[in-house]
Amino acid sequence: MENAFSDRITDVPKSFIREILKVTNDTSIISFAGGLPNRLFFPVKPLQKASFDVFEEEGSDILQYANSEGYLGLRQYISDRYRKQEGLDISVNDILITTGSQQGLDLLGKTFLNEGDDLIIEEPGYLGAIQAFAMYRPRFHPVPVSEGGMDLVALGKVLRERRPKLLYTVTNFQNPSGISYSDDNRRAVAEMVRNSSCLIIQDDPYGDLRFSGTRKVSFKHLLPDNTVLLGSFSKTVAPALRLGWLVAPPALMDKLIIAKQAADLHTNSLAQRILYRYLCDNDLDAHIATIIHQYGLQKAAMIAAIQQYFPADVQYTNPEGGMFLWVSLPAGMSSMALFEAAIKKKVAFVPGTPFYVDRKDSNTLRLNFSCSDEATIAQGIKRLGDSIRELF
Ligand SMILES: Cc1ncc(COP(=O)(O)O)c(C=O)c1O
Repeated sequence: MENAFSDRITDVPKSFIREILKVTNDTSIISFAGGLPNRLFFPVKPLQKASFDVFEEEGSDILQYANSEGYLGLRQYISDRYRKQEGLDISVNDILITTGSQQGLDLLGKTFLNEGDDLIIEEPGYLGAIQAFAMYRPRFHPVPVSEGGMDLVALGKVLRERRPKLLYTVTNFQNPSGISYSDDNRRAVAEMVRNSSCLIIQDDPYGDLRFSGTRKVSFKHLLPDNTVLLGSFSKTVAPALRLGWLVAPPALMDKLIIAKQAADLHTNSLAQRILYRYLCDNDLDAHIATIIHQYGLQKAAMIAAIQQYFPADVQYTNPEGGMFLWVSLPAGMSSMALFEAAIKKKVAFVPGTPFYVDRKDSNTLRLNFSCSDEATIAQGIKRLGDSIRELF
């Protein structure tokens, strides 16, 4: 069957995290490897009621084919929320409901990338974006990110030497590193991109999960005509709904809708109606406040345990929100080797490798803090600290 497959599917690696999660099925392992929102906060009863109510009140209407753009009520809700949260004026016509924001990435790849096109991606970067874009076989140009944002020198070099079509960013509590771009960094990136034909993709599934600090300026404010926003209800309501959205200027939307129609005609409209009903009858901000209160405590517990149990020359980020933090071991150490040692001590994490386009072995790793309580976090970080010392 070797010859049966397309080049595009042969080249794209399997999701490394899914492979790792198989190892961590053992329940005695404390896992900081997953990337999941905490199931304790899924609004089970309110969603159950919303489902009952839409079936009861709207009957067969909700079971018909629907339009490709998505349910108008839900798009209006998203538009209103952008105005309230970020002072952004976004027309419902500029919003396309997608099957998770992951589909937004695929539609953007499909719409903009020819084989060999230049694409800028963060390093380390979200591996789901690397996987989605790799299907369209672009030339990746990784630009390092660290506390404060993108490396402007490296960005300037790519913009000067190549003609990148897309620049992919997760500016708030980035997956995998937890870092956020400062306002100054965002302004500088926008200025550098301003006179190019590069489109900025600002993927923001974590923006609402801020437990400290203040909201930062959106690229949509800085470069409205060159920015596409991706959003998601996966981390604020529930990922099983598979509901996200894409905001694009009118000049791009027609083509994105063609890509959407070719992919799946429209996003599950039953899920859209249930979510909309939930959003109308419940206070999303109050729900998010509950989530971030707990995530903030868990992040603080992880930082405290790292300070107590890790050797002093191990570095780590201290995110103001989101679900992850990023650890850098002293240069020359391998996080793959640490993974082997840590599994023996029954603690897991994701080594940095899959977050680099060239999948190099590295001294970095991602830790998730959204899914374990504070006592488990302390215990797991102690085990990890012991594993690091063994490798020293
Ligand atoms: C940065 C980033 N973008 C997109 C996604 C995909 O989310 P969704 O569930 O909306 O498809 C994730 C999921 O973890 C993510 O971390």
